Amino acid sequence: MSGTLFNKVAFIGLGLIGSSLARVMLQEHLATTIVASTRSKKTLQDALELGLITEGFSDPVEAVKNADLVVLALPVRATQKVLEMIQPYLSENVIITDVGSTKGNVVEAAKAVFGETLPAGFVPGHPIAGAEHTGVHAGKVDLFANHKVILTPLPSSSPLAVSKLTQMWQAAKAEVICMDVEKHDEVLAHTSHLPHLMAFNLVEQLANREDNLDIFRYAAGGFRDFSRIAASDPQMWHDIFFANKKAILNAVDGFEHQLKILRQLIEDENSQALMGLLGHAQAARQHFNHMLAKKPLMEKNKVTQQFTILPGNKTFKGKFTVPGDKSVSHRSIMFGAIAEGTTHVTGFLEGEDALATLQAFRTMGVSIEGPKNGEVTIHGVGMHGLKAPTGALYMGNSGTSMRLLSGLLSAQAFDSVMTGDASLSKRPMERIAKPLREMGAQIQTTGEKGTPPVSITGEQKLQGIHYDLPMASAQVKSGILLAGLWAAGETSVTEPEPTRDHTERMLRAFGYDVKTEGNRISLQGGGKLTATAIQVPSDISSAAFFMVGAAITEGSDVVLEAVGVNPTRTGVIEILKQMGADLTVENERIAGGEPIADIHIKGTRTLKGIHMPEDQVPLAIDEFPALFIAAACAEGQTILTGAAELRVKESDRIQVMADGLKILGVECTPTDDGIIIEGKGKAGDWSAIFGGGEIESHHDHRIAMSFSMAGLRNTGEIVITGTETVATSFPTFTQLANQAGLSIHVNED
Ligand code: S3P
Repeated sequence: MSGTLFNKVAFIGLGLIGSSLARVMLQEHLATTIVASTRSKKTLQDALELGLITEGFSDPVEAVKNADLVVLALPVRATQKVLEMIQPYLSENVIITDVGSTKGNVVEAAKAVFGETLPAGFVPGHPIAGAEHTGVHAGKVDLFANHKVILTPLPSSSPLAVSKLTQMWQAAKAEVICMDVEKHDEVLAHTSHLPHLMAFNLVEQLANREDNLDIFRYAAGGFRDFSRIAASDPQMWHDIFFANKKAILNAVDGFEHQLKILRQLIEDENSQALMGLLGHAQAARQHFNHMLAKKPLMEKNKVTQQFTILPGNKTFKGKFTVPGDKSVSHRSIMFGAIAEGTTHVTGFLEGEDALATLQAFRTMGVSIEGPKNGEVTIHGVGMHGLKAPTGALYMGNSGTSMRLLSGLLSAQAFDSVMTGDASLSKRPMERIAKPLREMGAQIQTTGEKGTPPVSITGEQKLQGIHYDLPMASAQVKSGILLAGLWAAGETSVTEPEPTRDHTERMLRAFGYDVKTEGNRISLQGGGKLTATAIQVPSDISSAAFFMVGAAITEGSDVVLEAVGVNPTRTGVIEILKQMGADLTVENERIAGGEPIADIHIKGTRTLKGIHMPEDQVPLAIDEFPALFIAAACAEGQTILTGAAELRVKESDRIQVMADGLKILGVECTPTDDGIIIEGKGKAGDWSAIFGGGEIESHHDHRIAMSFSMAGLRNTGEIVITGTETVATSFPTFTQLANQAGLSIHVNED
């Protein structure tokens, strides 16, 4: 129950939308009195019988007297006439809103009546919801739930009016968005009006053919799906097409232009470009699907999924191939895109993060085929072939995409903006913006604290610099080196400690000369990349969860096949070995320029607490959440120092892990740059370590997967919320973990 917002509400018109809103007002007690006026006596009678209103009028003037909210819920074309009638009778502080699907013409109608100075209470609105049926009986109290309502406040609108209407729509469980009138009409012209126009047009085109009967008879699902909306009300669409004429004509022009491009590709039998266009559209549609399906990994996220793991004895066994390395997958797309020639990638990680990078390059005009079963083909456009993106580049959860692309985009001839989800929007971007500015880049972090969105002005001449990295960050190093490809002269960085060197290795694989002398890495700008084949190894960071799972489970026996064991990534192996894990690295070999091996790990002995070696911190930087679970099961204390970087990952991994461990009954003390964990293990005793409880993953995939492993040694039910982000790096996690013997139940909202 939301509580009274209005004293007297007057609906002018009481069809589907009006009567649904009246139902919300009743249920949520938003108004003391609700009245309505409509031309149909029958509607008024029905509304009275349904208990929606206390009085009904055929004259709107009677309805609006003393009302503090007037809702115009009638066809948009009637707006001006009704406003003219009711204007002299409106109370002084009345709020007036409407529900029409075009907004510019509603504002015009109001101006024709009120003059240029519109009443402060006038705030046009548009609930984006509908149903097959119309009329007062069709109304539903949940019509707006989980739908968007756009309010278009005007410069004259009072904040109080906007706030009250926002509260009203929120009480209807709608998501309220504010936008200016022009933007509203442009967005709707493209997303709603143009598709309707195209559907009417296609059906008309077919209906005019002589063989139309045959065509309709044989038309299959594609035609049915595409043309469904051509069965909508012609009068309404007639009105909308005129009401939003300017924006719709623009949208139609855009459609004609795009259609000509497509037509030409078919005429020329340009297979590569056609595949590129269709692949790009398909990917954009899939991306959109996530948002439509309310699994908004790529949106400013809501929590949509949780894991539940029950107590009970579990085994952990089997041979597994975890998905491709995230860092290498990102780079394969970036370098393939700016190379000359065609790059083939195998083992590509089809997780949301790497897909965000892939989508960004498609948006910049690169033709990319796949991914299909880990295979991607990138038709490189060369160092100067990227095109200006048409809108902001959405990086989802991915810090790697945003930091590396900051460097690359700073050197382009066009402007760009990058945005991210809730977690990425909190992450520091000045660490990369600062050195890029020293190179001459025009880059701004437009979030509150040097955080995203990142906004870049193109056409700058970059100059090579030397930069002493203040933190051990492969992302910052790589972002600078990427900008250095286009900069004049030499660009070099010195790292405080070695970090993952995938950028250096892969640039060399693309034929670019990169020098590494101790901790100093340098390259000369102005060269070019030549396409190559990239084999992405399995991600050691994903394998780490299984290593820890096996290390803490009695009798476990797990082999992780063909895992990347690049020496800048193997800190987790070294640390687990120091803790006494029964772990061997077998069949070491080279694949696609990166060392790989099978990792074999068995649960034969209790781990012991250690002071984790600081020189391993950058080499195990993503594996600490999992290692903290191992430490909790170890005998004695584990101390981590020198790892302040953990506080600025997808979440503050020190605090979030400490909170979760405490919930599960493990004593620990977070420090500025690490943590002290009081291990609960006892030599030879494999009984449970963790209790039960609800863990919040804070939009961090590695937190979710680490606490899943605690489910191998728990006495109570462990519930982990916000697990949808697991798909950013390890889409098959639950499937493989359950095959090994962990029963994770996945619940979707
Ligand atoms: C990455 C570098 C690391 C790591 C991240 C991937 C990369 O980040 O944590 O998951 O691909 O370069 P930092 O550069 O912030 O240490």
